[in-house]
Amino acid sequence: CGIVGVIGREDTTEILLNGLEKLEYRGYDSAGIFVTSEHGEGHLVKEKGKIADLRAAVGSEVQGTLGIGHTRWATHGIPSDHNAHPQVSANGRFYLVHNGVLENYEELKAKYLSNVTFTSETDTEVAVQLVEYLVDQEGLDVLAAFRKMVSMMKGSYAFLMIDQTQPDQLYVAKNKSPLLIGLADGFNVVCSDSLAMLSLTHEFDELHDGETAIVTSDHVEIFDPNYQVVERKPYKVSLDADAVDKGTYPFFMLKEIDEQPAVIRRLVSTYLGERDDYRFDPQLIAKMAEADQIYIVAAGTSYHAGLAAKQIVEEVAKMPVAVELASEFGYHLPILSKRPFFVFLSQSGETADSRQVLVKMKELGYPSLTITNVDRSTLSREADFTVLLNAGPEIAVASTKAYTAQITVMALLAKALGQKLGTDDGKIDLRSELSLAANAMQTIVDNKEAIEGYAKEFFETTPKAFYIGRGQDYFASLEAALKLKEISYIQAEGFAAGELKHGTISLIENGTPVIALITDQATAGLTRGNIKEVEARGAKTLKIVSENLAESADQLVLPAIASVLSPLLTVIPAQLLAYYATIQRGYNVDQPRNLAKSVTVE
Ligand code: G6P
Repeated sequence: CGIVGVIGREDTTEILLNGLEKLEYRGYDSAGIFVTSEHGEGHLVKEKGKIADLRAAVGSEVQGTLGIGHTRWATHGIPSDHNAHPQVSANGRFYLVHNGVLENYEELKAKYLSNVTFTSETDTEVAVQLVEYLVDQEGLDVLAAFRKMVSMMKGSYAFLMIDQTQPDQLYVAKNKSPLLIGLADGFNVVCSDSLAMLSLTHEFDELHDGETAIVTSDHVEIFDPNYQVVERKPYKVSLDADAVDKGTYPFFMLKEIDEQPAVIRRLVSTYLGERDDYRFDPQLIAKMAEADQIYIVAAGTSYHAGLAAKQIVEEVAKMPVAVELASEFGYHLPILSKRPFFVFLSQSGETADSRQVLVKMKELGYPSLTITNVDRSTLSREADFTVLLNAGPEIAVASTKAYTAQITVMALLAKALGQKLGTDDGKIDLRSELSLAANAMQTIVDNKEAIEGYAKEFFETTPKAFYIGRGQDYFASLEAALKLKEISYIQAEGFAAGELKHGTISLIENGTPVIALITDQATAGLTRGNIKEVEARGAKTLKIVSENLAESADQLVLPAIASVLSPLLTVIPAQLLAYYATIQRGYNVDQPRNLAKSVTVE
């Protein structure tokens, strides 16, 4: 979900709508705003659907100088107008937006609010009804009631609340869900992600877990959990507002696919010095070198990047690596090695599943690194070390450039670690391989038409598809299949080529698309054998092969790079195939149904 708030501007409505549009990638099943004038004339507008639907529903009378807004990714209650935020208290006095999940809302509802008529199925409504209850029934003033409500809540929240009888301040609270206060001249803003407000300010105060704040048009007061005032220096976000613009592209995803060669080059120039010196914090490399095993913890696409990274670290630095799904690992801890080092891979730096593991591993005293695209994100603040992906904002829900950036950063780190440990045998000249990779990526994205044609031929009508490969090609297949299914809704599976015959081959029918990735000399022949097996059962096959292993009938031939780095290349046609298949099937590429870009609930 995404949250915005503004105080002290005449164009409040427009600021809220623009901000929500920037945050739409975080959730887009329903949205709403509440805007009030300084005399307390309020307007609440909520709409199921996208921000464009909300915008269309906002009439010219919706004006004011204080407002809050929300774009939702449903957790409790279906997407609908009444479940959209802001939620309102029964007497219409308090308006509140919320990101996160309240774990004890049913308990609180039963205990205090059995006489209140609820209008939604959300956990959020309990929070706003509780404030009204505490004011009306317990006689608390609004600030005390807000604080008491917050102190009663278990779970994750970022709250913004308006008291309509006092339309000159915003009540703010945060726990586990991100929230920032943007500072400007004569007005202030609040948002769950600085991207929402970059056109208005680059200066932000960040709230920490357990803190509350009161924001007026010219003042911000932050309180710690004991209600002592917190003095905090604002920080500057260096991102450019333009970086969140599609430019001439029809979709962010295509822009982000195209940016990948530049991202790889930027990473090399950031982290690899002229004399092959790796520019990472020496303490980070020293800590990693003390470990006996690296644990990569991640979710979704980042998990797939972790799988590819494992092979690279093991080959280059000769350190064992385990790759773990965050949502599983935290609750089913395996027996750990003696000196583990934790690497959290997360584009957003906000994924709650990953954060839960980080909190536990910190408690156990283990060292940690977050590799993320978002500076000052939660995971970045909380880990011992951070390495940034520098990929620029990734807006499309389907992750592309973050995946290749994560693999690249892990390769650079593997080299630095191998140097430190003296374990790198120098077989991979990373500077030259990454330069080859960036050039090869460029060639692929420059020749999109061929891939668009294959998308039409293979995916236009099929209900299902398979990607197969071995080793790195298997791990890339997992990501390739995820891209396809998350945006085109084709039921796709990434499979270890040799495992297909042990069951899954029964799904192959006449015309079922099977896309094979072949970049590894040692197993190319075996995978070709598996292709023959599925062809014999009617599959329609597409081969994506590296130049050195290509045969004349192979349709997509990629320039050859060190085979352990091959996911950097094989994923590019797969991203483009998913993109074009989605367009051809008539779906919204950037905003696939049911998904959200950063998932801050477990
Ligand atoms: C969400 C997104 C995925 C992403 C995953 C992990 O589910 O839809 O695209 O891969 O979260 O996100 P992270 O920000 O931690 O990499």
